[in-house]
Amino acid sequence: MNQAKHIAIIMDGNGRWAELQGLKRVKGHEAGAKVVKEITTYCSQSQDIERLTLYAFSTENWKRPRLEVEFLMKLLNNYLKKELPSYLDLNVRFEPIGDLGAFSKSLQKTIQNVKEKTAHCDGLVQSLALNYGAQDEILRAINKIKECESPVTEVMFSNALDCKQNVDLLIRTGGDHRLSNFLLWQAAYAELHFCNTLWPDFTIKQLEAIIQDFEQVERRFGGLK
Ligand code: FPP
Repeated sequence: MNQAKHIAIIMDGNGRWAELQGLKRVKGHEAGAKVVKEITTYCSQSQDIERLTLYAFSTENWKRPRLEVEFLMKLLNNYLKKELPSYLDLNVRFEPIGDLGAFSKSLQKTIQNVKEKTAHCDGLVQSLALNYGAQDEILRAINKIKECESPVTEVMFSNALDCKQNVDLLIRTGGDHRLSNFLLWQAAYAELHFCNTLWPDFTIKQLEAIIQDFEQVERRFGGLK
């Protein structure tokens, strides 16, 4: 049976969820943040799941209206500050990935604080992808190792990436069937699951069903049965 040790999620559909209810798009992000907490809590209690990587803000999301970007920054800042005690209670280590230098100094400080305060936690790793794009991550990795004199190996390259663990199961909510520049290297052998549910409606029950299906899939990694 497969184990979904590393689950990655593209949390799409917040804006549409809000618009469908006649609310402003940002209300969808607020509702989405609640689901982040529920899913993280669930994963932290699972015996099998080691890492949960969530696509919270992409390198392309800066193109959104200024007010929406500002709202997302504030939401993230508040979320991390408010939830620090629950990271500790659940023994969850927070490991952000992405190019954090683009954020305001105060948001960088909050991110760094949660990372440091949870560094000793040895349960689930919750990794938020923040100002993250896989192409950017790959370029940054190449620049880190380009002076290396010996030929670059898969392990060396992988260790130069922000996220060093391959993804087992990649889920995208919101109905689109694409990877949108998320974990392109790490998802090389991931099972992909696309669902129409909008992120704020995504439930633990759905996640359990997706994991159960994943456990039955035969993964050959390019080999034979
Ligand atoms: C995609 O929905 C979602 C995002 C760009 C941001 C994800 C953010 C959250 C889930 C909430 C904040 C997270 C944390 C950790 C506090 P969309 O806006 O593209 O939705 P749409 O496709 O319906 O427009």
